[in-house]
Amino acid sequence: MENNHQKPHAILFPYPLQGHVIPFVHLAIKLASKGFIITFVNTQSVHHHITKSKPNSTKEDDIFTGARKSGLDIRYTTISDGFPLGFDRSLNHDQFWEGVLHVFPPHVDELLAKMVHSDPPITCLISDTFFVWSSMIANKYNLVNISFWTEPVLVLTLYYHLDLLIKNSHFASRDKREDTIDYIPGVRAIEPKDLMSYLQATDNLSTVVYRIISKAFEDVKRADFIVCNTVQELESETILALQEKQPIYAIGPLFPVGFTNNTVPTSMWSESDCTQWLSTKPHGSVLYVSFGSYAHVSKQGIAEIAYGLLVSGVSFIWAVRPDIVSSDETDFLPVGFEDETKGRGLIVPWCRQMDVISHPTVGGFLTHCGWNSILESIWCSVPMLCFPLLTDQFTNRKLVVDDWRIGLNLCDMRSITREEVARKINRLMSGKLADELRTNIGELKKVVVNSLTTHGSSENNFNQFINDVKIKIRKKFSTVTWKHNGPSFNNA
Ligand code: UDX
Repeated sequence: MENNHQKPHAILFPYPLQGHVIPFVHLAIKLASKGFIITFVNTQSVHHHITKSKPNSTKEDDIFTGARKSGLDIRYTTISDGFPLGFDRSLNHDQFWEGVLHVFPPHVDELLAKMVHSDPPITCLISDTFFVWSSMIANKYNLVNISFWTEPVLVLTLYYHLDLLIKNSHFASRDKREDTIDYIPGVRAIEPKDLMSYLQATDNLSTVVYRIISKAFEDVKRADFIVCNTVQELESETILALQEKQPIYAIGPLFPVGFTNNTVPTSMWSESDCTQWLSTKPHGSVLYVSFGSYAHVSKQGIAEIAYGLLVSGVSFIWAVRPDIVSSDETDFLPVGFEDETKGRGLIVPWCRQMDVISHPTVGGFLTHCGWNSILESIWCSVPMLCFPLLTDQFTNRKLVVDDWRIGLNLCDMRSITREEVARKINRLMSGKLADELRTNIGELKKVVVNSLTTHGSSENNFNQFINDVKIKIRKKFSTVTWKHNGPSFNNA
């Protein structure tokens, strides 16, 4: 048996957004279950939102208290993102990302300087691929540099080959080409409309998001390993092509053991319990509607969705965040909508999505196509109606609608009409096409479930990843002299 000093100690930095913190937490648990010591670092703001949304948590608790009780060595700390807790990060989007780009890295550096000689010393850095500082920090503290990618590998590949998109005038060109992109290694063909929203922008390369992307996807090329929350069989060609460049492992989907059994609080909003309401509905009859944790929808868009739901006649749960339009526009549902749909519709600010979509009465998901939501929907065999809003969601829709045929497209442009919404909801919920989608997603679910079995691809890849990391650690530290309180490095 390994003693503590032989165990790898990894420090984990999730991107400070809900959809990144969730898979990071599940990665932490999976690594700790395989004998890693974990130090998990949330920003103070994320920590504040998670604890505020859990009314019963005590001051002594941190999010991993339960996990530690079950024997896992997961330590927890918080770090400033450079802004006070009361600063509205959603409203001040650009200012916040400037902070993440410029102010956050010195805080990371300061924390590592304090923590690297913990007992046992930290040996690996696992940071979100969107961070721009990973190789700088890994080099400075002599850590194995592991990049964790929480979206599909198709999206990673497109960012990775930004140079090719620029060279071929599909991005950052005054005369942007609109024809099919067929020169990215591992991607047979993709239309410009299916690129991530940041790459569909015209020619403004000075935005903060573009500056983050251009730095981060150069930096990832210096990572020792890349782990991805995807499944080999879902994206095999794309993964194989990227593996020619760097060691990359598809280890997803990262879910709590038992799916709905999450012992670690991760929600940044209070969760409404919808299960009782759901239990009163017939099997497969309810549409679940959610646009995730981050994107915004115009007030007009929300109204069209609302009227579409009304006209469709379908039962629904709509998890609609209070800041879905903007944090200073909280009165956005059409007047009388809640009364007119009473009994048939349940509107909540946030819910336990895994409990909702795994409920047998849920038969469809109107989604913004966040990657976590797609993985969860496949796991529960719930076909999707796709309404992408931002970032990777357009590219994810291509996978769902065109490649895997497990969902329908709501509309091509972002402007939607209530008639279209109602028509598509009805097509998703019943009829011949709905049956086909259900069959396809049932087949895909089997592939995904199988990947997590003892000899499945994700389990094999995860074990391989752990072995490779341990070898890398041994090599790295063979030139290290151990002192009583941790390694001291010589450059021999
Ligand atoms: C964004 C990106 O689009 C996504 O691809 C990326 O991986 C993370 O950031 P986000 O808006 O966070 O997406 O959506 P999604 O990836 O679907 O993640 C949302 C998570 O919150 C899911 O795990 C979902 O189960 C959970 N959720 C959402 C709830 O628990 N309750 C809700 O009411 C809504």
